[in-house]
Amino acid sequence: MNAKPSKLSRCVKANIVLPPDTQHHYTLFGGRLMQLIDEVAVLSATRHARRPCVTASTDSVDFLSPVRVGDSICLVAYVTWTSRTSMEVFIRSTAEDLMTGERRIAAVSFQTLVAVDDMGKPMPIPGVIPETEEEKYLFKTAPERAIARKTHRAQTKDLIENLTYINTNHLDVSEQLYGVVNG
Ligand SMILES: CC(C)(COP(=O)(O)OP(=O)(O)OC[C@H]1O[C@@H](n2cnc3c(N)ncnc32)[C@H](O)[C@@H]1OP(=O)(O)O)[C@@H](O)C(=O)NCCC(=O)NCCS
Repeated sequence: MNAKPSKLSRCVKANIVLPPDTQHHYTLFGGRLMQLIDEVAVLSATRHARRPCVTASTDSVDFLSPVRVGDSICLVAYVTWTSRTSMEVFIRSTAEDLMTGERRIAAVSFQTLVAVDDMGKPMPIPGVIPETEEEKYLFKTAPERAIARKTHRAQTKDLIENLTYINTNHLDVSEQLYGVVNG
């Protein structure tokens, strides 16, 4: 499978921030931005893999500045690094005051997506070729982030094994009412 330049997976998604996208401070709701981030990351990964892709994990999202109603929010995403079936996608979200043209980074984030077959089983994907200085920087630093994700994944597995509500029938009433578990 031939490696592909990062630029071939580059996706740009621009939106104007409308009142339903905001919370009671009239700034963009964090969950709405995370939805936009996930959407553009899936597009980018699918462009790279030319296979259906699912989100395996989202690294922490740093919300760096508020985005107001009437601003635009522009997300740029591309695949920075790949392993066998998974790929790291970098997403930069830039807010723009459309009246003044002032731009600022609203958030930066990384997502890991996995290419899957028709049964949802992970599939091998092409490698990536970084070309610009930014792409080369993100490519070079990616293995360290991947190691941190592996550690985090192992910790999550351990956490799941120690969640008592999965392993016991001793549910409290509110858990039963909300249908949290079938265990
Ligand atoms: C992601 C998923 C396909 C992985 O399947 P799996 O059976 O656990 O497969 P593996 O353990 O072989 O992992 C496949 C790859 O994903 C990577 N991966 C799995 N979980 C990961 C995580 N939490 N973070 C980062 N990478 C992860 C593995 O490192 C592996 O990468 P590699 O092949 O490049 O080395 C599976 O867990 C899944 O379908 N999850 C739900 C996805 C989904 O519904 N997303 C939307 C949520 S709203």
